[in-house]
Amino acid sequence: MSYVKYEQKDFVGVVTIDREKALNALNNEVLCDLEAVIDAVDVDKTRCLIITGAGAKAFVAGADIAAMCNMTSEEGRAFSAKGNAVFRKIEKLPIPVIAAVNGFALGGGCELALSCDIRIASENAVFGQPEAGLGITPGFGGTQRLARTIGVGKAKELIFACRNVKADEALQIGLVNAVYPADQLMDEAMKLAKRISENAPIAVRQCKKAINMGLQMDIDSAVALESELFAACCGTQDQRNAMTAFCEKRKHDPFINK
Ligand code: CAA
Repeated sequence: MSYVKYEQKDFVGVVTIDREKALNALNNEVLCDLEAVIDAVDVDKTRCLIITGAGAKAFVAGADIAAMCNMTSEEGRAFSAKGNAVFRKIEKLPIPVIAAVNGFALGGGCELALSCDIRIASENAVFGQPEAGLGITPGFGGTQRLARTIGVGKAKELIFACRNVKADEALQIGLVNAVYPADQLMDEAMKLAKRISENAPIAVRQCKKAINMGLQMDIDSAVALESELFAACCGTQDQRNAMTAFCEKRKHDPFINK
């Protein structure tokens, strides 16, 4: 039985971490299941992915503390490497990924949300990196992605002080893009995913690549990369279709990912 469920709804894939009894905490098995699901996503048929947690209480309440309790340094290194490898796969998926954060997103849960492109949250969501209070550092990319997302000073405050933030503050500091009542979260995630999947898939992918890769480069290299990705869109059937329709003052045909 897998701890991670997958559902395909037209062009949108929905991934649900399903270990509700432990608030969807991530042990090695859950990470392996998540990796298998991510590896199996058909990126030719899927234009946007949503990741969420099972139940009404938690997105993911962190890495599994019971599983880490007696870890040696060597085991800790392997566990952190595993989580980082899986989350990096999510980050590097060619299609956009939305985290629909439906409750606690602590430690590894906050880190999972940060490896997604866009985060939206329910009003009961709580974010934080409580690791220093457990005698460890964040281990699945939190020190890096939280600082890159909300800025170094704010990330250090939350990580050093183990201060959790509720949804309204997460919105205010730019950790999430929007907050919705819990019963509307998945509908809103689906609306956003559908809106993304109605745009030219090749162009959307190149935009993701340009932003993610470009942010790691100096500005000259980054705009050169953008030129290359722009060039790769020119001449595609979807580009011709959209621009011809604009020039002819009519709606374009549906995009075909070619
Ligand atoms: N690991 C293992 N089990 C967890 C868990 C976790 N991270 N979070 C919750 N659970 C389990 C609880 O042990 C409990 O199990 P039992 O019913 O068998 O006792 C069940 O989920 C329900 O949790 P609570 O009874 O604690 O629920 P609550 O409503 O009282 O509290 C909570 C909710 C505040 C989220 C609390 O569960 C909590 O603080 N969890 C831990 C959060 C945390 O510290 N996460 C960071 C982990 S470290 C990490 O993630 C490292 C990394 O970067 C790799």
